[in-house]
Amino acid sequence: SGSGLPLMVQRTLAKQVTLTDCVGKGRYGEVWRGSWYADSVAVKIFFSRDEASWRRETEIYSTVLLRHENILAYIGSDMTSRGSCTQLWLITHFHPLGSLYEHLNRTTLTRHQMMAICLSAINGLLHLHTEIHGTQGKPAIAHRDIKTKNILVKVNGECCIADLGLAVSRQHVAAGLQHNPRQGTKRYMSPEMLDQSINTSCFESFLKCDVYAWGLVLWEVCRRVQPRARDYRAPFSELAASDPSFDDMRKIVCVDAARPDVPDDPHPTMVGMANLMRECWHQNPSVRLPALRIKKTLLKLASNDNS
Ligand code: ADE
Repeated sequence: SGSGLPLMVQRTLAKQVTLTDCVGKGRYGEVWRGSWYADSVAVKIFFSRDEASWRRETEIYSTVLLRHENILAYIGSDMTSRGSCTQLWLITHFHPLGSLYEHLNRTTLTRHQMMAICLSAINGLLHLHTEIHGTQGKPAIAHRDIKTKNILVKVNGECCIADLGLAVSRQHVAAGLQHNPRQGTKRYMSPEMLDQSINTSCFESFLKCDVYAWGLVLWEVCRRVQPRARDYRAPFSELAASDPSFDDMRKIVCVDAARPDVPDDPHPTMVGMANLMRECWHQNPSVRLPALRIKKTLLKLASNDNS
């Protein structure tokens, strides 16, 4: 189409949605709870300067059938003008428990709850990473901004992956189409991103960055597990204050090769989790585990944990 907008963008959708309350604000814009007929929906309102993220997220959701229980379900996108300003909306299912970040700040977890969170979230990431052939197929997609604020907790205790605004498919990378000026979250950036040794023309490089960030997510979750739950911490919180610079993070992650302290719980499941996070955040991207291997390791740890 001449405007470059995906066909699925529904210019009338916003008119059918009533916004009720703001549930989040950030550098990206705002998230509101709203209603769309009988459904409770989430409306992400992007700052117009971040139109590239709205476009990419809308494109990924509307060109690919991304229906998966562990990926935030898309309803539609809308672009409307309010006076002189353009409003960019992304409408999805609403999850009242909010993000994994909020959930971990609010509660500690049993090992069973930890497993439900970790297994469901890796299932979502594995689905994104996996290319599926055929009419119901999908390309391999790298997320590029994995963090606890971009994972939502469902009322059944499972999680889903949100925010595809930086995502790239293998085809995007092959065609050299990655012109989003936004960067991933610096605190979760892999060593090869920070020292700029990453080969950005190789799609697999981005999958390995997701796995690095996933290792940090595992650490955040495991810290909140009973009976040795500690207070919630962001990764590297003692080394990097809020909103660290690229150079602060490069010094910590590349020069000093610092990583969070793994759990000290001697329970075999937690020892297994500690080993798993080390294999995810390894300095050398080529030895990091693929998502399928992470899932299999978690399934084995879960089936061996009878208490
Ligand atoms: N925060 C960000 N996205 C959300 C969603 N879909 N539901 C609830 N809280 C959110």
